[in-house]
Amino acid sequence: MNLRFPDHFIQEVVDRTDIVELISRYTELRRGGSNMMGRCPFHSERTPSFSVSPTKKMFFCFGCHAGGSVITFVQKAENLDFTDAVEYLANRAGLPLPKESENAMASGGVTRKRVLEMNLEAAKFFRACLFDPAIGGEGMRYLQGDRALSPATIKHFGLGFAPNSFNLLTDHMHRLGYRDEELIAACLCGKSQKTGRAYDYFRNRVIFPIIDPSGSVVAFGGRVMDDSKPKYLNSSDTPAFKKSRQLFALNFAKNHCSERMILCEGYMDVIALHAAGFPNAVATLGTAITSDHARIFSKYTQKVIISYDSDEAGQNAANKAMRILGEVGMEVRVLKLNGAKDPDEFIKKLGADRFRRALDQSRTGFDHKSEQILARYDLSVGAEKIKASNEICALIAEYWSAVEREVYIAQVSKQLDLPSDVLKNSVEQMRRRQKRAHAERESREAVATVKNFGDRVNPEAAKDPRAASAEEAVIGLLLMFEEYRNAVERGEIALSADDFVTEFNRRVFEALMRGHAAEGGLHPELLGMEFDPDEMGRIERAEMTRRQLTQNGPEVFRSAVSVLQDAKKKENTQGGDLNERLAYLRDKKSKIHKGKADNT
Ligand code: UTP
Ligand code: MN
Repeated sequence: MNLRFPDHFIQEVVDRTDIVELISRYTELRRGGSNMMGRCPFHSERTPSFSVSPTKKMFFCFGCHAGGSVITFVQKAENLDFTDAVEYLANRAGLPLPKESENAMASGGVTRKRVLEMNLEAAKFFRACLFDPAIGGEGMRYLQGDRALSPATIKHFGLGFAPNSFNLLTDHMHRLGYRDEELIAACLCGKSQKTGRAYDYFRNRVIFPIIDPSGSVVAFGGRVMDDSKPKYLNSSDTPAFKKSRQLFALNFAKNHCSERMILCEGYMDVIALHAAGFPNAVATLGTAITSDHARIFSKYTQKVIISYDSDEAGQNAANKAMRILGEVGMEVRVLKLNGAKDPDEFIKKLGADRFRRALDQSRTGFDHKSEQILARYDLSVGAEKIKASNEICALIAEYWSAVEREVYIAQVSKQLDLPSDVLKNSVEQMRRRQKRAHAERESREAVATVKNFGDRVNPEAAKDPRAASAEEAVIGLLLMFEEYRNAVERGEIALSADDFVTEFNRRVFEALMRGHAAEGGLHPELLGMEFDPDEMGRIERAEMTRRQLTQNGPEVFRSAVSVLQDAKKKENTQGGDLNERLAYLRDKKSKIHKGKADNT
């Protein structure tokens, strides 16, 4: 959803921009077939591989795979975000910017600004309730008593209380001039099935405002004060809030994170840590960490210490977070909480000094994983020790750097009490075997794997290159032909978001079909609201790849869809080794469990 400009305005800006004239200011373009070709302005090259389509108003570089709409071009060339790039082009075309009231139409009548205003009023209301003993007494007793928060901490985080009523907040907001539809769009109210009227969404809960780095209250979380369910209720996404891109307490942490940040699971963990002198702690909001979160981390800091709950679900989530953060090049460490279930309890039971020591002793991904392996075996039994050593050697063999392998071998040699040259032989043997297995694989798949390795846009592509390329074929064909989009929309071709193996391509598919269903049909330039320029390049690549092929008929589309569905089936029934599968199932179970409780 665009937060500042309505779709029709963005389209008008694109219509009024002459893409050839725009790009000619950055590089010389010459006619080549139906397109214009030139040297790419985004990487240095001698022979032109940069192509511009005047009719589609899209560009694509066959060398560096930059691509997208005129807006994407300006984003990249002038280093602007999407909205600023639209504004830049509007000014260039002499189009007056629409007024805020008109922008409101872009999100069902409610702007980001309006939602933020409402949230601020609601936050004040919740806080006033908490501090009014007649209304918020129970909430205050819970926070100060059960959770042992000081008055200073309660104020610092702007905590509040939602009274046990269906209409107190709604009435208050009505008095301030906000309408039902606006309150519902801001997720401060639910909509009654029976009457269609608004009612208070948060009731009888202590309230945690979620504040973005610029200081705006973007959403709320609310916790019950007993064991009822759901334990936490969170705002759904609104024009001012996207759960997968927000971190709790980043507004404070951003000023204390030059060295490192601490990532926790829960609101209360973060609050306890800040109160104990660790203002660099943040948490995701009832969701697993996403690549969007990872990119946010990389904007603020170099190093993240993961401090998740010590139960099995927490440890599995930590493994996943390690991977996602590692993919954007973060230095990642994992903290082990001995003697407490989460950081909140740790601080209460063992104190801040012990936590600081635990932080300084937090371990690298390798140490964490190798410890998990060692814990599964009884090292006093020969056969078990061999298994443990084999698993750890296989883990070490995966590291590319010889220095890293050397360091880990030395370390494991002590732990297992085995000579390091023996371990080293074993590691090198495994590397040779891994290499051979690699070479034996279909060459096409191997090439695709290498091509996709370290892929920032779609990190999951390396896992199953064949499925990923089928996904790209499907996306390319959907972009090219409206018939295929119609066929999918009408269910003539059974393809759904669940059939996609990689999350990136699933998001693209959903955005395409949403665009297709929208009034006015699919406009690829609008995808730029949801996808950054690198991602736009990938989307454009999917289409350009198809355009260069001669076979794009329905049978090609159907067969790409079925490759995808087979890959998905395979993933579901036999993915990976047993431990990985078990971990996956457990993770899934806990997610389903959470999803139910989460209710957002
Ligand atoms: P936990 O269940 O570990 O809660 O969920 P917690 O943070 O330890 O909470 P306390 O200490 O019992 O109060 C971790 C996080 O998952 C999200 C919340 O963000 C929570 O902080 N969550 C949990 C939900 O969104 N909904 C739920 O029903 C439960
Ligand atoms: Mn917890």
